[in-house]
Amino acid sequence: SDQRKFFVGGNWKMNGDKAGIDAIISFMKGPLSPNTEVAVGCPQCYLMYTREHLPENIGVAAQNCYKVSKGAFTGEISPAMIKDLGCKWVILGHSERRNVFNESDQLISEKVGHALEAGLKVIACIGEKLEEREGNRTEEVVFAQMKALLPNISDWSRVVIAYEPVWAIGTGKTASPEQAQDVHAKLRQWLRDNVNAQVADSTRIIYGGSVTPANCQELAKTGDIDGFLVGGASLKPDFVQIINARD
Ligand code: G3P
Repeated sequence: SDQRKFFVGGNWKMNGDKAGIDAIISFMKGPLSPNTEVAVGCPQCYLMYTREHLPENIGVAAQNCYKVSKGAFTGEISPAMIKDLGCKWVILGHSERRNVFNESDQLISEKVGHALEAGLKVIACIGEKLEEREGNRTEEVVFAQMKALLPNISDWSRVVIAYEPVWAIGTGKTASPEQAQDVHAKLRQWLRDNVNAQVADSTRIIYGGSVTPANCQELAKTGDIDGFLVGGASLKPDFVQIINARD
Protein backbone atom coordinates (compact mmCIF):
# COMPACT_ATOMS: atom_id res chain seq x y z
CA SER A 1 0.00 0.00 0.00
CA ASP A 2 1.07 3.62 -0.58
CA GLN A 3 0.59 4.27 3.11
CA ARG A 4 3.23 1.76 4.10
CA LYS A 5 6.86 2.08 3.00
CA PHE A 6 8.30 -1.34 2.15
CA PHE A 7 10.59 -2.42 5.01
CA VAL A 8 13.36 -5.01 4.84
CA GLY A 9 15.25 -5.97 7.96
CA GLY A 10 18.25 -8.24 8.14
CA ASN A 11 18.77 -10.36 11.23
CA TRP A 12 22.36 -11.53 11.46
CA LYS A 13 21.58 -13.49 14.64
CA MET A 14 24.79 -14.69 16.37
CA ASN A 15 26.87 -14.60 13.19
CA GLY A 16 29.77 -12.66 11.82
CA ASP A 17 32.97 -11.03 12.97
CA LYS A 18 34.51 -7.70 12.05
CA ALA A 19 35.80 -9.02 8.72
CA GLY A 20 32.40 -10.53 7.91
CA ILE A 21 30.66 -7.30 8.82
CA ASP A 22 33.05 -5.39 6.53
CA ALA A 23 32.01 -7.74 3.71
CA ILE A 24 28.31 -7.15 4.44
CA ILE A 25 28.86 -3.39 4.56
CA SER A 26 30.51 -3.51 1.19
CA PHE A 27 27.65 -5.35 -0.55
CA MET A 28 25.14 -3.09 1.21
CA LYS A 29 26.35 -0.32 -1.12
CA GLY A 30 23.71 -1.82 -3.39
CA PRO A 31 22.32 -0.03 -5.28
CA LEU A 32 19.39 -0.19 -2.86
CA SER A 33 15.86 0.85 -3.80
CA PRO A 34 14.99 4.29 -2.39
CA ASN A 35 11.48 2.87 -1.89
CA THR A 36 12.62 0.42 0.79
CA GLU A 37 13.44 1.23 4.40
CA VAL A 38 16.33 -0.99 5.50
CA ALA A 39 17.72 -1.99 8.91
CA VAL A 40 20.16 -4.69 9.97
CA GLY A 41 19.98 -6.56 13.28
CA CYS A 42 23.46 -6.95 14.61
CA PRO A 43 25.01 -8.74 17.64
CA GLN A 44 25.29 -6.31 20.53
CA CYS A 45 29.08 -6.33 20.69
CA TYR A 46 29.22 -5.08 17.08
CA LEU A 47 26.48 -2.46 17.27
CA MET A 48 28.88 0.46 17.53
CA TYR A 49 31.22 -0.86 14.85
CA THR A 50 28.31 -1.48 12.47
CA ARG A 51 26.67 1.88 13.17
CA GLU A 52 29.96 3.67 12.52
CA HIS A 53 30.63 1.89 9.24
CA LEU A 54 27.21 1.62 7.56
CA PRO A 55 25.73 4.58 5.69
CA GLU A 56 23.23 6.59 7.77
CA ASN A 57 20.29 5.65 5.55
CA ILE A 58 20.57 2.02 6.70
CA GLY A 59 19.21 1.48 10.19
CA VAL A 60 20.97 -0.63 12.79
CA ALA A 61 18.94 -2.76 15.21
CA ALA A 62 19.91 -4.57 18.37
CA GLN A 63 18.55 -8.14 18.51
CA ASN A 64 17.34 -7.86 22.09
CA CYS A 65 17.36 -5.51 25.08
CA TYR A 66 16.14 -5.44 28.65
CA LYS A 67 13.03 -3.74 30.03
CA VAL A 68 14.65 -1.07 32.20
CA SER A 69 17.22 1.64 31.47
CA LYS A 70 20.03 0.62 33.82
CA GLY A 71 20.88 -1.31 36.96
CA ALA A 72 22.03 -4.62 38.38
CA PHE A 73 21.17 -6.83 35.39
CA THR A 74 24.42 -8.56 34.50
CA GLY A 75 24.72 -9.36 30.83
CA GLU A 76 21.82 -7.22 29.66
CA ILE A 77 21.76 -4.04 27.58
CA SER A 78 19.17 -1.27 27.70
CA PRO A 79 17.38 0.71 25.00
CA ALA A 80 19.17 3.82 26.30
CA MET A 81 22.52 2.19 25.55
CA ILE A 82 21.40 1.19 22.05
CA LYS A 83 20.29 4.76 21.40
CA ASP A 84 23.51 6.14 22.85
CA LEU A 85 25.42 4.29 20.10
CA GLY A 86 23.27 5.94 17.44
CA CYS A 87 21.18 2.85 16.74
CA LYS A 88 17.45 3.45 16.36
CA TRP A 89 15.95 -0.05 16.29
CA VAL A 90 15.57 -3.18 18.36
CA ILE A 91 14.20 -6.60 17.38
CA LEU A 92 12.09 -8.03 20.22
CA GLY A 93 10.21 -11.28 20.66
CA HIS A 94 12.10 -13.22 18.02
CA SER A 95 11.15 -16.90 18.10
CA GLU A 96 14.67 -17.76 19.25
CA ARG A 97 14.24 -15.45 22.24
CA ARG A 98 10.83 -16.97 22.92
CA ASN A 99 11.81 -20.61 22.43
CA VAL A 100 15.54 -20.93 23.21
CA PHE A 101 15.59 -18.36 26.03
CA ASN A 102 12.02 -18.88 27.24
CA GLU A 103 10.95 -15.26 27.00
CA SER A 104 7.26 -14.96 27.80
CA ASP A 105 4.64 -12.86 26.04
CA GLN A 106 4.56 -10.72 29.16
CA LEU A 107 8.32 -10.04 29.28
CA ILE A 108 8.42 -9.31 25.55
CA SER A 109 5.54 -6.90 25.93
CA GLU A 110 7.29 -5.08 28.77
CA LYS A 111 10.48 -4.89 26.69
CA VAL A 112 8.56 -3.43 23.75
CA GLY A 113 6.93 -0.88 26.04
CA HIS A 114 10.19 0.25 27.56
CA ALA A 115 12.04 0.36 24.23
CA LEU A 116 9.32 2.62 22.79
CA GLU A 117 9.36 4.84 25.88
CA ALA A 118 13.12 5.15 25.53
CA GLY A 119 12.64 6.34 21.95
CA LEU A 120 13.62 3.26 19.95
CA LYS A 121 11.72 1.78 17.04
CA VAL A 122 10.74 -1.85 17.48
CA ILE A 123 10.51 -4.86 15.18
CA ALA A 124 8.13 -7.03 17.23
CA CYS A 125 8.13 -10.68 16.15
CA ILE A 126 5.31 -13.17 16.40
CA GLY A 127 4.56 -16.52 14.81
CA GLU A 128 3.19 -20.01 15.34
CA LYS A 129 5.04 -23.31 15.68
CA LEU A 130 4.51 -26.22 13.29
CA GLU A 131 2.28 -28.18 15.67
CA GLU A 132 0.16 -25.09 16.24
CA ARG A 133 -0.33 -24.60 12.48
CA GLU A 134 -1.08 -28.27 12.03
CA GLY A 135 -3.61 -28.05 14.86
CA ASN A 136 -5.31 -25.10 13.10
CA ARG A 137 -4.28 -22.80 15.91
CA THR A 138 -2.26 -20.24 13.90
CA GLU A 139 -4.81 -17.46 14.25
CA GLU A 140 -5.33 -18.08 17.97
CA VAL A 141 -1.56 -18.08 18.63
CA VAL A 142 -0.67 -14.93 16.71
CA PHE A 143 -3.70 -13.05 18.04
CA ALA A 144 -2.69 -13.96 21.61
CA GLN A 145 0.84 -12.71 20.92
CA MET A 146 -0.60 -9.43 19.56
CA LYS A 147 -2.96 -9.08 22.51
CA ALA A 148 -0.03 -9.40 24.93
CA LEU A 149 1.84 -6.61 23.14
CA LEU A 150 -1.11 -4.24 22.89
CA PRO A 151 -1.17 -2.63 26.37
CA ASN A 152 2.50 -1.64 26.10
CA ILE A 153 2.43 -0.11 22.63
CA SER A 154 2.27 3.64 23.14
CA ASP A 155 3.23 4.63 19.58
CA TRP A 156 2.31 2.36 16.69
CA SER A 157 4.17 4.57 14.22
CA ARG A 158 7.43 3.21 15.66
CA VAL A 159 6.44 -0.46 15.51
CA VAL A 160 6.89 -2.96 12.69
CA ILE A 161 5.24 -6.35 13.20
CA ALA A 162 7.26 -9.30 11.89
CA TYR A 163 5.21 -12.42 11.25
CA GLU A 164 7.66 -15.31 11.33
CA PRO A 165 6.12 -18.78 11.33
CA VAL A 166 8.57 -20.80 13.42
CA TRP A 167 8.46 -23.72 10.98
CA ALA A 168 9.74 -21.45 8.21
CA ILE A 169 12.71 -20.00 10.09
CA GLY A 170 16.04 -21.33 8.84
CA THR A 171 14.36 -24.39 7.36
CA GLY A 172 14.23 -23.49 3.67
CA LYS A 173 10.47 -24.09 3.99
CA THR A 174 9.04 -20.67 3.13
CA ALA A 175 5.37 -19.93 3.72
CA SER A 176 3.62 -19.73 0.34
CA PRO A 177 2.49 -16.25 -0.69
CA GLU A 178 -1.10 -17.41 0.01
CA GLN A 179 -0.27 -18.76 3.47
CA ALA A 180 1.62 -15.62 4.47
CA GLN A 181 -0.89 -13.19 2.94
CA ASP A 182 -3.71 -14.97 4.76
CA VAL A 183 -2.10 -14.43 8.17
CA HIS A 184 -1.02 -10.87 7.34
CA ALA A 185 -4.57 -9.95 6.31
CA LYS A 186 -5.92 -11.43 9.55
CA LEU A 187 -3.35 -9.50 11.58
CA ARG A 188 -4.31 -6.28 9.83
CA GLN A 189 -7.97 -6.97 10.55
CA TRP A 190 -7.02 -7.65 14.16
CA LEU A 191 -5.38 -4.21 14.33
CA ARG A 192 -8.53 -2.68 12.83
CA ASP A 193 -10.71 -4.39 15.44
CA ASN A 194 -8.46 -3.94 18.47
CA VAL A 195 -6.61 -0.65 17.81
CA ASN A 196 -8.07 1.44 14.99
CA ALA A 197 -8.31 1.76 11.22
CA GLN A 198 -5.46 4.27 10.94
CA VAL A 199 -3.05 1.91 12.74
CA ALA A 200 -4.28 -1.04 10.67
CA ASP A 201 -3.68 0.86 7.42
CA SER A 202 -0.29 2.30 8.33
CA THR A 203 1.50 -0.43 10.33
CA ARG A 204 4.02 -2.46 8.37
CA ILE A 205 3.51 -6.22 8.77
CA ILE A 206 6.59 -7.96 7.39
CA TYR A 207 7.18 -11.65 6.73
CA GLY A 208 10.17 -13.69 7.92
CA GLY A 209 11.16 -17.30 7.34
CA SER A 210 13.44 -18.58 4.59
CA VAL A 211 13.07 -15.49 2.39
CA THR A 212 15.39 -15.67 -0.63
CA PRO A 213 15.87 -13.80 -3.90
CA ALA A 214 13.90 -16.66 -5.53
CA ASN A 215 10.72 -16.25 -3.44
CA CYS A 216 10.75 -12.60 -2.36
CA GLN A 217 9.07 -11.11 -5.42
CA GLU A 218 5.96 -13.30 -5.24
CA LEU A 219 5.62 -12.62 -1.51
CA ALA A 220 6.12 -8.88 -2.07
CA LYS A 221 3.26 -8.74 -4.60
CA THR A 222 0.59 -9.66 -2.06
CA GLY A 223 -1.56 -6.94 -0.55
CA ASP A 224 -0.59 -7.21 3.09
CA ILE A 225 3.09 -8.20 3.11
CA ASP A 226 4.95 -4.93 3.61
CA GLY A 227 8.49 -6.28 3.62
CA PHE A 228 10.67 -8.97 5.13
CA LEU A 229 12.79 -9.96 8.08
CA VAL A 230 15.65 -11.94 6.64
CA GLY A 231 18.04 -14.24 8.49
CA GLY A 232 20.48 -16.35 6.48
CA ALA A 233 20.13 -14.42 3.23
CA SER A 234 20.92 -11.12 4.98
CA LEU A 235 24.53 -12.29 5.41
CA LYS A 236 24.97 -12.60 1.66
CA PRO A 237 24.73 -10.29 -1.37
CA ASP A 238 21.32 -11.96 -1.87
CA PHE A 239 20.06 -9.44 0.67
CA VAL A 240 20.30 -6.63 -1.89
CA GLN A 241 17.94 -8.47 -4.24
CA ILE A 242 15.46 -8.91 -1.38
CA ILE A 243 15.68 -5.20 -0.48
CA ASN A 244 14.88 -4.46 -4.12
CA ALA A 245 12.06 -7.07 -4.37
CA ARG A 246 9.35 -4.50 -5.19
CA ASP A 247 11.26 -2.65 -7.92
O1 G3P B 1 14.50 -13.00 11.90
C1 G3P B 1 14.64 -13.60 10.66
C2 G3P B 1 14.66 -15.05 10.71
O2 G3P B 1 14.18 -15.63 11.86
C3 G3P B 1 14.40 -15.78 9.47
O3 G3P B 1 15.55 -16.52 9.29
O4 G3P B 1 17.27 -17.64 8.01
O5 G3P B 1 14.86 -18.27 7.73
O6 G3P B 1 15.66 -16.09 6.86
P1 G3P B 1 15.85 -17.20 7.88
